[in-house]
Amino acid sequence: GAPDTRTPTGAETGLPAPANGQQGAYLTTATGVRLRDTDHSLKAGPRGPSLLQDHHLREKITHFDHERIPERVVHARGTGAHGTFTAYGTAESVTKAGFLKKNTETDVFVRFSTVLGSRGSADTVRDTRGFAVKFYTDEGNFDLVGNNIPVFFIQDAIKFPDIIHAAKPHPDREIPQAQSAHDTFWDFVSLHTEAQHHTIWNMSDRGIPRSYRTMEGFGVHTFRLVNDAGATTLVKFHWKPKLGVHSLTWEEAQLLSGLDPDFHRRDLYDAIEAGAFPEYELGIQVFPDTGEEAFAGIDLLDPTKMVPEELAPVQPIGKLVIDRTPTNFFAESEQVAFHLGTMPPGIDVTNDPLLQGRLFSYVDTQLSRLGGPNYNQIPINRPHAPVNDMLRDGFHQHAVHGGVAPYRPNSLDGGNPSTAEDGFVDVPVIVAEAPKIRQNPASFDDHYSQTRLFWLSMTPTEQEHIISAYTFELSKCYEQAIKERQLQALANIDPVLCRQVATGLGLPEPKPTVPLADVTPSPTLSQIGHTWPTD
Ligand code: HEM
Repeated sequence: GAPDTRTPTGAETGLPAPANGQQGAYLTTATGVRLRDTDHSLKAGPRGPSLLQDHHLREKITHFDHERIPERVVHARGTGAHGTFTAYGTAESVTKAGFLKKNTETDVFVRFSTVLGSRGSADTVRDTRGFAVKFYTDEGNFDLVGNNIPVFFIQDAIKFPDIIHAAKPHPDREIPQAQSAHDTFWDFVSLHTEAQHHTIWNMSDRGIPRSYRTMEGFGVHTFRLVNDAGATTLVKFHWKPKLGVHSLTWEEAQLLSGLDPDFHRRDLYDAIEAGAFPEYELGIQVFPDTGEEAFAGIDLLDPTKMVPEELAPVQPIGKLVIDRTPTNFFAESEQVAFHLGTMPPGIDVTNDPLLQGRLFSYVDTQLSRLGGPNYNQIPINRPHAPVNDMLRDGFHQHAVHGGVAPYRPNSLDGGNPSTAEDGFVDVPVIVAEAPKIRQNPASFDDHYSQTRLFWLSMTPTEQEHIISAYTFELSKCYEQAIKERQLQALANIDPVLCRQVATGLGLPEPKPTVPLADVTPSPTLSQIGHTWPTD
């Protein structure tokens, strides 16, 4: 038979299995020597000085000195937990992904986060929330790296460093921490009006969720599914919380930032420990893959646009139950590495230019955040499917690879490893014959229709909250010209919204510079009356 080039087990190599760091009853050094004393350094007499010879002192302090790793460049503040996803089987006609076959259960790890604050910032700030799910499927991992808002600030990944530079604290004073109440944020979104749609969602109650248990999640981009026959479908992914969508009031959010900055983290852990397991339903909006990549006149490759649910209902395809808190925050929530491009056969990407850049960014940042190219060997990231790759060596390599020929084809390891007929296939989408160019399609130019649609779809109470949020956040700007430019954007969304915020700021109300979009309010955009689809 063919030589075995799998990573050998501990028993096969004679090497011990990876340690859990807490074996045996006795305190030891990192190299396993039992210690008699860990409370006193080795000194020349009881009054010192301390001796350089003290290996235990040096090991203990050196290791401590290197305990911190860089926090995530965005989404630094977050918390995770384990759960199980059970498929309904309703997606079997559109995807061959095994984990979506009826009644299949898959282990998952979920990480919820804010975007802008640093690791120790408060949970209840006004911000977008991350909703990232790692499915450990039998066919390899699937990372659904989403947010609680269905659209994004920008249309092209090349602008991501720019929006994040503008939204993070000012470079001179490093304030404000995790809020949109500052000049650079409003400078950016008023100059890049494609950001107005995401911004109005942030200024709504969606920007201050009551709990991670009461948040929707969105894959944002359009993805392409492939079924057993090779037929393709375009979809958008949605998570619906069983408890419905609920938010804090701004006053509650502000108080909680002081009283309990860990409010969301505590709420998640306490609920799980009490057996009130958070539940979400995964659903898809389904669009025919006709080649034009649009639905009801909405460009499906523009991540600043969503498709209202009454035009394309969300079809439930499975259920997630979160039922286990982490054992170790660092090992799990900090070291987990999500990547949009981690997907099993049956799911593929589209040409959304924001998605395309994300395919590069996550791996790149994890190379430095997690110290080199072997971070998928960290326990929380390890697939539950067998791994047999030709990646070798590198910092923090834990595998002991067998065989001599990590290349294909080879004649030395009996051709091992083989490629598989049922392996991942990139959908051979036809690429249009077109000039190589730095330009967006014209359909990306409409920045106000859906922003106005969102505003008009809110109840009067929700509209009041939005007006207060814009007024509060803009009042924190130092530069009057920036407030005026944002008021101009509001005038292009809706005169009532603009007038109320202008009055609150004590500034004149500008006239619109574009015709107001003719849109019909969408009942599904308001959070009032939200129900779980299978109830
Ligand atoms: C992290 C979502 C756009 C770069 C994250 C996380 C989420 C997320 C949920 C946190 C993952 C975790 O919990 O560990 C999104 C969504 C986007 C988006 C929904 C747009 C639809 C982008 C873009 C880029 C980007 C355009 C870059 C071009 C990053 C980076 C991290 C991150 C570098 C940190 C990852 C790490 O250190 O592990 N994103 N993101 N994101 N995102 Fe995005």
